[in-house]
Amino acid sequence: MKTRITELFGIRHPIVQGGMHYVGFAELAAAVSNAGGLGLITGLTQKTPELLDREIRRCKELTDQPFGVNLTFLPTVANPPYPEYIDAIASNGVRIVETAGRNPEQHMPAFKRAGIKVLHKCTSVRHALKAERIGCDAISVDGFECGGHPGEDDIPNFVLLPLAARVLKVPFIASGGIADARGLVAALALGAEGINMGTRFIATQEAPVHANVKRAIVNASELDTRLVMRPFRNTERVLTNAAVERVVQLEREKGAALQFADIAAEVVGVYPRVMIHGDMDAGAWSCGMVVGLIDDLPTVAQLLDRIVSEARQLIEQRLTGFSAA
Ligand SMILES: Cc1cc2nc3c(=O)[nH]c(=O)nc-3n(C[C@H](O)[C@H](O)[C@H](O)COP(=O)(O)O)c2cc1C
Repeated sequence: MKTRITELFGIRHPIVQGGMHYVGFAELAAAVSNAGGLGLITGLTQKTPELLDREIRRCKELTDQPFGVNLTFLPTVANPPYPEYIDAIASNGVRIVETAGRNPEQHMPAFKRAGIKVLHKCTSVRHALKAERIGCDAISVDGFECGGHPGEDDIPNFVLLPLAARVLKVPFIASGGIADARGLVAALALGAEGINMGTRFIATQEAPVHANVKRAIVNASELDTRLVMRPFRNTERVLTNAAVERVVQLEREKGAALQFADIAAEVVGVYPRVMIHGDMDAGAWSCGMVVGLIDDLPTVAQLLDRIVSEARQLIEQRLTGFSAA
């Protein structure tokens, strides 16, 4: 497939693997890039710029295809040294960055100096327009369905994507709720030039996470995600478990009196316990509604080949059939 996104990033398939905390290591990013998509290392999972430098080098040993790094600007307990992370990216010759959370305006000069293309992920049309204005090269439009941080507007992709298509000049990809060829073809029809997937990529052979996480995704249904941290305007869509149900109940009971300290134990420092040790009740971890569509553990190459070949069939047979009728 050829779209403005495959051209911009020099990739074969218009499919991006979104940054994922404690999932987006070199193994997964390289597997996605080797399979013709765009793999992303998650920058802040690496605790220091030196560690990110090492992870990027590892990825370069695993693939000779383009890959990128995700830099997330969300409220964190730590205050990461972003300029040094950007140096680690630029000095290794990585030329694609996915930004997310707050807009990356203050870092755009550094990205541009290094010839880095910026794919900004955001959850509203106004934020997408702002990203376009400050010089981002492409946008990842993240609908309410998505795993992770869907923002506070709650607009799903069937409305968000056509709205984005009406106003954006730079190319955009659809993110959130996509796991298969139907999702890709729908995204293209709604105006996107490709897709971003998170949750689907965790349930692959190469995802370097504990088998319990993959099993939980395969077993979960579309009813099994919850929204937490809305009272702090830092909403996150997560897979439910005992800890998450405690958070949901506390948020309901305490209302406006809720303090971050009330839920900190269930939301801080959770990822290594879940992703590395497979402790599935450790706390809240991001997961999309699309979990209901996932029922196998293919290799990344099998997944991408399946999505692209079934998308071709859908376009050439099902859709063309309608126009002939
Ligand atoms: C476990 C997990 C961790 C994530 N961590 C991050 C992150 O650190 N930074 C980021 O920008 N997005 C993060 N995301 C969001 C994904 O990059 C992607 O936008 C989202 O998963 C798309 O929705 P989907 O899961 O329905 O495909 C995460 C998602 C998941 C499932």
